[in-house]
Amino acid sequence: MSLRSVLLALVGLLPAAGCGFQPGAAELAWGLSAKSREELAEAPQAQSELARLLEQNFGTPADPRFPPAPQGGLAELKPERRAALERDNQTRGLAADHYPTPLESAELYRVHCLHCHGAAGAGDGPTAASINPKPRDFRKGIFKWAAVKDKARPRREDLTTILENGVYGTAMHSFARLPVAEIEGLADHVRLLSVRGEVETLAVNHFKEEDELDEELFGEHIDTVWSRWQRAESKFIAWEGEIPSDSPAMRARGRELYLDARKGNCVQCHGDAGKGDGPAAWKINAKGKKELAYLDDWGFPIQPRDLTQGIYRGGARPIDIYRRIYAGINGGPMPGIGETKNSQGGPLVSSDDLWALVHYVRSIPEGAGP
Ligand code: HEC
Ligand code: HEC
Repeated sequence: MSLRSVLLALVGLLPAAGCGFQPGAAELAWGLSAKSREELAEAPQAQSELARLLEQNFGTPADPRFPPAPQGGLAELKPERRAALERDNQTRGLAADHYPTPLESAELYRVHCLHCHGAAGAGDGPTAASINPKPRDFRKGIFKWAAVKDKARPRREDLTTILENGVYGTAMHSFARLPVAEIEGLADHVRLLSVRGEVETLAVNHFKEEDELDEELFGEHIDTVWSRWQRAESKFIAWEGEIPSDSPAMRARGRELYLDARKGNCVQCHGDAGKGDGPAAWKINAKGKKELAYLDDWGFPIQPRDLTQGIYRGGARPIDIYRRIYAGINGGPMPGIGETKNSQGGPLVSSDDLWALVHYVRSIPEGAGP
């Protein structure tokens, strides 16, 4: 499909959307990322072949396709979620199994998300320039607030939870007022953009190393990336049974671990009082100025959180904080300690110790009052 017909098709959708934001032509296309164009600057033929393969497999914003799971999310929903979707559809007077088509999901994304996350999900929509933290660039496949370990891709319900709750304390607000079916369709579209972005990067890197780019290879790249998403369920950080309860003794143990350089060592980044001013967080640059020591995976400076404020982007429930400490925070410097071994090969911290840290962290804002 030509760019012109894509645009005409999308312009045709605008009145139906009834939205104030009207993206310009360039903002609507997917195309190649700026990085790919730069990396393939000397290889114009590879550029056009890559653009062709991307379009052949993933379509365009006006005709989106998702080869790894063409049937869409409905087939993947767990029974309870499926039941919630059916109930919600029925209260809206729709067929119980109503579910947006890929094109409808792309359109929902254009209306609700594009101005921050950008057409191709690179986190570069027009609003992105003025907000901090930046909207997520989905194209790296790195997500921060999923309930999974080993830097895995998010599970489907991690994405829908983010959409329903938003990311507290950031510009990513809640979309809970949208129908369940639309939330699910949006999660499909985020996944499409993320897989497409990662595949594009793999193809560029492979071309640079091996000088190869063809349909078969491109199919292999899709399989590689999609298998990462399929592993997500097996990476879920489960907690079964009672959560050890909060107590002065637990908090005191948590504080000890927080300070202990061989255990939690949270203090090195978050600082003694939890203000995000630990010795590892800041450095003095060549000009003698103090600046943040760490960059995140997207190249932006990142500060360890000020824990005295009690703002938890990934959720404030004890289990949310437990998962952050267990697995670390993907895309940034915070390490996980849930599976770290000590020098004898045993666990560095017991699960009781992890809960002690959770209770201590959650108590920091209380101690930080005026
Ligand atoms: C006003 C800007 C804005 C809008 C609109 C917006 N987002 Fe976001 N989004 C953000 C920001 C900022 C973050 C990064 C938060 C962070 O770093 O913790 C984010 C993060 C995310 C994440 C990543 C969560 C993670 O675990 O890393 C997903 C997924 C997401 N947004 C999806 C969407 C979808 C889908 C829409 C539309 C329904 C949308 N966003 C609309 C600003 C926005
Ligand atoms: C190497 C530096 C580093 C270390 C060590 C570290 N953190 Fe962090 N921590 C960070 C950074 C950076 C962030 C902000 C991440 C973001 O917003 O993407 C953060 C965020 C957090 C958050 C906020 C989570 C949320 O949902 O918003 C908590 C809670 C936290 N850290 C607890 C801890 C605890 C407890 C330890 C010790 C076991 C620890 N951190 C060790 C760097 C570190």
